[in-house]
This record gives sequence, C-alpha cells and structure tokens, in this order.
Amino acid sequence: MKIEVTRPVGEIVNEIEASIPVFEKMHIDYSFGGNRTLKDACYLAGAPLDQVIVLLEKVSENRQERADAKDWRHESLESLIDYIVERHHLYTWTQLAYLNNLAEKVSLDQGTEHPELVELHWAIKNAAKEIEAHLTKEEELVFPRIRAMARAKEEGKLLDEDENKFVPEQRPLQVLAWEHGMISNDWDDIRAITHDYRVPADASSAVKELYRGLAELELDLHRHTHLENNILFKRAIEMGLID
Ligand SMILES: [Fe+2]
Ligand SMILES: [Fe+2]
Repeated sequence: MKIEVTRPVGEIVNEIEASIPVFEKMHIDYSFGGNRTLKDACYLAGAPLDQVIVLLEKVSENRQERADAKDWRHESLESLIDYIVERHHLYTWTQLAYLNNLAEKVSLDQGTEHPELVELHWAIKNAAKEIEAHLTKEEELVFPRIRAMARAKEEGKLLDEDENKFVPEQRPLQVLAWEHGMISNDWDDIRAITHDYRVPADASSAVKELYRGLAELELDLHRHTHLENNILFKRAIEMGLID
C-alpha cells in the first residue's frame, strides 16, 4: 500500500492496525493528535519521515488480518461504545487504582533514598484523578447520550426532553477531546520522571512492576483514545448526533 504523507495518522491506523507498533516505536502520536498528517506527526516526534514510510509499507505488505478483527469504522456506535467500556475502561479503572496504590507504597518505603518515587506518586495520583473524572463523564453522560441519539436516529424519532438532559456542557465531544490532551500532558510528566520507564539498576521488584504497569497502561490509553478521538467522536459528529 502506498503511504501518503498528507494522510492523518489516525486514518492510517484505521486502515493498517499493524502500524500501531511502528508509531509507538518512533514515539509518533496517533491517538491524541490523530488528525495530524503523517508528515506533521513525524516532524513533531522528530522521527525521520522516509524511514517511517519504509516501515509502514513493510507492515502493510506483511499484514495478516485477524479473523476476529473488527473495523470499527463500520460497526454500530453502540457496539463500539460497549467495546471501549469493556475492553479499555474496565482495564483503566483497575490498573490505575493498582498502580496508584503501588506508587504510594514504594514512595513511602523508598522515598527517602529515591525522592523521584515521591514525585512519581504525585504525578500518578494527579493523572488518576483526571482520568477517573473523564471516564465517569464518558460512561455516565456522554456515551448514554450518543447511544440514545444513535437509537433515535435509527428509529427516525426525536429525543424527548428527559433524554436531552444527559449532557451538561456545550460541545461535550470537544471537551472530552480537550481532556484527552490534558491526560496526554499528565502522562508526559510520568514519562519524564521515569525516563521513559527506564528501570534504575538498583530498583526493587515493586518499582520494576510499577514501571512495567505504567508503560502498559500508556499503550492501552493510546489505543483507547484513538478509538474515541478518531472513530467514535468523529462518526458521532458526522452523523449529526452530538458535537
Ligand atoms: Fe474512554
Ligand atoms: Fe476518553
């Protein structure tokens, strides 16, 4: 497949799922900034465009679609919301609580010799607070609204007053997308404190576990945010359900 440099990175991921490891490896943001062209995203990440194109062409040629892989651009919005909540939100809730506790523990046990662990605990606590408020807003206000609007549209009905009270603010999807950016900034702090999750030579097993868990959660947040920013929100706006 020919890779066009003017194509948004989020669209490239929709087309070639196997491009995700390439983007992750080169630290190219495909989720929070999925609207950027490949050229701009590479420039921002300081990644050599030519090399990225070669890698993308390679994975595109060698890709084998999984039999159960879904193209979320063409599934119902309701099933996409179910998938996001069951696959990504549940994991994020559990993992955040676990990592926050673990960070508190290592900060209390080892913070005197390793002050960066105290700083890390604060950064995780701050990120967790913002992410949890964001997930709650999606689950309790915005996703039910999208579901109701999608159903009403399918049935050719208008929403009644009661159903219209779901969303508390103007342009809720733009607010959520803005919050994704804030979460990405929070995670930059975590990356900076951990030096990109590079475990110190004398780290305890609890610190190793913490770094590993943070790196895993970040990868999951990228996929999760990609599905929301670049597919769910985009489709809901295009269908005129919400903005
Ligand atoms: Fe979400
Ligand atoms: Fe979100």
